[in-house]
Amino acid sequence: MTLSTHDKLFPVYVFEAPVRIWHWVMALCMVVLAVTGYLIGSPLPSVGGEASNHFLFGYIRFAHFAAAYIFAVMFVLRVVWAFMGNRFSRQMFMVPVDMFTREFWRGFTSQGKHYLFMKRHAEPWQGHNPIAAAAMFFMYTLGTVFMIITGFALYGEGLGMESWAFKMFSSWVLPLLGYSQNVHTLHHLGMWWLLIFTMVHIYMVFREDIMTNESIIGAMVNGWRTVKK
Ligand code: HEM
Ligand code: HEM
Repeated sequence: MTLSTHDKLFPVYVFEAPVRIWHWVMALCMVVLAVTGYLIGSPLPSVGGEASNHFLFGYIRFAHFAAAYIFAVMFVLRVVWAFMGNRFSRQMFMVPVDMFTREFWRGFTSQGKHYLFMKRHAEPWQGHNPIAAAAMFFMYTLGTVFMIITGFALYGEGLGMESWAFKMFSSWVLPLLGYSQNVHTLHHLGMWWLLIFTMVHIYMVFREDIMTNESIIGAMVNGWRTVKK
């Protein structure tokens, strides 16, 4: 009996446990960061009564900073895992290198036709297709680095000039980007950059789960890309 292309490619273990745990913890942090960040930028009306009885804005900022620490540490661990994990764990960092190959652009065009409903069946990708990988690198990876750098630069301002955050981030990020207000605005715009990625990302994973023959959302739950019967 000869094996079909699908049987040769699948099932394949794509997302190892550390990647799956990172993905879901990071997605949860994104929700907390976006909600609290939005409220920092557009604060709620002041709460009535004696000011010393309330700490609402303090809790909002605390939740933002706590989620920010987790988000940043998880990202650093994700970069470390790219050196230790399987070949799929490197995909979202390798796009600038892959872009120099003909195969990347062939896959990019082929997947683009599928997205535009010009091609009924997508190719059987084991990891990310080239368009998804490009979005993950240019929107998610670069966006996250930008948010961590600008976020800690703003955080260092609050902690003071003697703090580690000021010395490591604020000292060069604030003069480079044009001081506090500009950094606030750019950090705020960065949120929308990541939220646009998130909205398209969630739409695409559900769409591909329905439109293709392979497991998509299931792969980020149990790790395996399988062929749906
Ligand atoms: C994807 C991740 C993040 C999102 C979506 C996000 C979103 C936001 C937004 C929208 C604001 C309001 C900016 C304004 O209009 O003034 C803000 C403020 C701030 N964020 Fe983030 N942020 C993220 C990550 C971080 C990180 C990693 C840190 C590091 C500690 C951080 C620290 C801060 C600080 C210090 C402020 C200013 C708080 C204040 O002035 O009261 N953020 N964030
Ligand atoms: C309900 C919410 C979400 C669902 C259902 C979801 C689902 C998925 C799935 C199925 C994959 C694998 C895609 C593939 O096989 O090519 C994936 C990967 C990914 N997702 Fe999400 N996701 C969600 C939220 C988020 C959020 C909020 C972010 C960050 C802003 C995010 C960032 C990523 C990244 C960067 C990858 C690539 C992971 C890697 O290559 O290691 N996701 N997601």
